[in-house]
Amino acid sequence: MKHLTQSFSIKFEYPIYFTSAIFKKENTLLNDYLQQASPTGITRKIMFVVDEGVANATPNLMADIKAYFAVHNTVNLIPDIIIVTGGEVVKSSEKYFNKVLDAVNKHGIDRHSYIAAVGGGAVLDMVGYAAAVAHRGIKHIRIPTTVLSQNDSGIGVKNGINYFSKKNFLGTFVPPVAVFNDEKFLETLSIRDWRSGISEAVKVGLLKDAAFFNWISDNVVALVERDMATMNYLIWRCAQLHMQHIAGNDPFESGSSRPLDFGHWSAHKLEYLTNFEVRHGEAVALGIALDTVYSNLSGRLSNEDTELIVKTLLGLGFAISHPLLQVDGGESPIVSGLGEFREHLGGQLTIMLLKGIGEGEEVHEIDIELLKQAGEKLNEIQVR
Ligand SMILES: NC(=O)c1ccc[n+]([C@@H]2O[C@H](COP(=O)([O-])OP(=O)(O)OC[C@H]3O[C@@H](n4cnc5c(N)ncnc54)[C@H](O)[C@@H]3O)[C@@H](O)[C@H]2O)c1
Ligand SMILES: [Zn+2]
Repeated sequence: MKHLTQSFSIKFEYPIYFTSAIFKKENTLLNDYLQQASPTGITRKIMFVVDEGVANATPNLMADIKAYFAVHNTVNLIPDIIIVTGGEVVKSSEKYFNKVLDAVNKHGIDRHSYIAAVGGGAVLDMVGYAAAVAHRGIKHIRIPTTVLSQNDSGIGVKNGINYFSKKNFLGTFVPPVAVFNDEKFLETLSIRDWRSGISEAVKVGLLKDAAFFNWISDNVVALVERDMATMNYLIWRCAQLHMQHIAGNDPFESGSSRPLDFGHWSAHKLEYLTNFEVRHGEAVALGIALDTVYSNLSGRLSNEDTELIVKTLLGLGFAISHPLLQVDGGESPIVSGLGEFREHLGGQLTIMLLKGIGEGEEVHEIDIELLKQAGEKLNEIQVR
């Protein structure tokens, strides 16, 4: 048979910077990055898309961005800064995606220019997707402003929007060109959004690094009291473990196993069932609690480890039990969620459980009776 074979690989590399007050004129980090990333001879533009929640919480933000680029003019700022609603709604209506595309068209943003997104994970996902598809890919800079986006969603390679009422139905695997984690943004987070992203750090600790989980457990009070140095370390270490994971394990998810999805199968279902009233990170904490107690009841995880994990989640202020996560007959949403998760993976159910703190185990079957008991047990602990 006559045939040709095409084969090439492309290396992806992007820095994640940790800074404070990125748009303060004296802070040259962003401009330094743009300078070294932008060869001379071509005029480049940068267009900003900002999360409305961030804009409201930081009233000087627009003025600061404009003042910054007035002094640091390596690239030309498009003075028309786009503001979009924050939260899941920005991914759920095409309106905001179209608004970004309109601006790309109107301002002549080409493949040599940048789109910078400032916001929570939802805004970053939407803007990243718009940037990835416009002109087959415009350079995309992320400036995440929530704990979850700084330690998880904003540093990875995925983006997307919801479509046909389905989460992330449209999306691409396209890494940003750079990420700037600015601790200052975390100061204005609501308590829910401050706490929410901590569950992803608990998750990676439980799967990959017992010492990191134990550190979180020892620092519950400092985290609850919003100590910034403690949060900085949590974000830094979580981001590092995440990045190592992405680089080493199928970054574009061509296989069916999702080793970092501990606690996520029920979390996705719960977010959806509550119309995203329960935040991603909050749902992940509930999912971790459920899969931890299930791991215990199925004989994998010791009582001591189980108690420490549950105590840590409670100490951080997370709910560990939700009525929609209780098994109550075959029609329970959580049981159908399991079936949907199996379909989503393409046939074989693969769920990550725990054998110990820092050690996961993939299983392909879930015992509904034990799942029911796990829900009941968590409910008892929660109301105690
Ligand atoms: N791409 C990925 O790999 C990935 C991974 C996990 C989650 N996600 C997505 O991330 C999204 C959730 O992100 P999130 O938890 O960051 O929440 P979010 O983006 O929904 O933001 C929550 C709220 O906080 C506000 N906000 C953001 N920053 C603020 C600040 N500094 N001060 C005050 N308010 C602020 C927003 O306006 C919004 O109202 C979901 O859509 C989820 O699907 C993506
Ligand atoms: Zn997650």
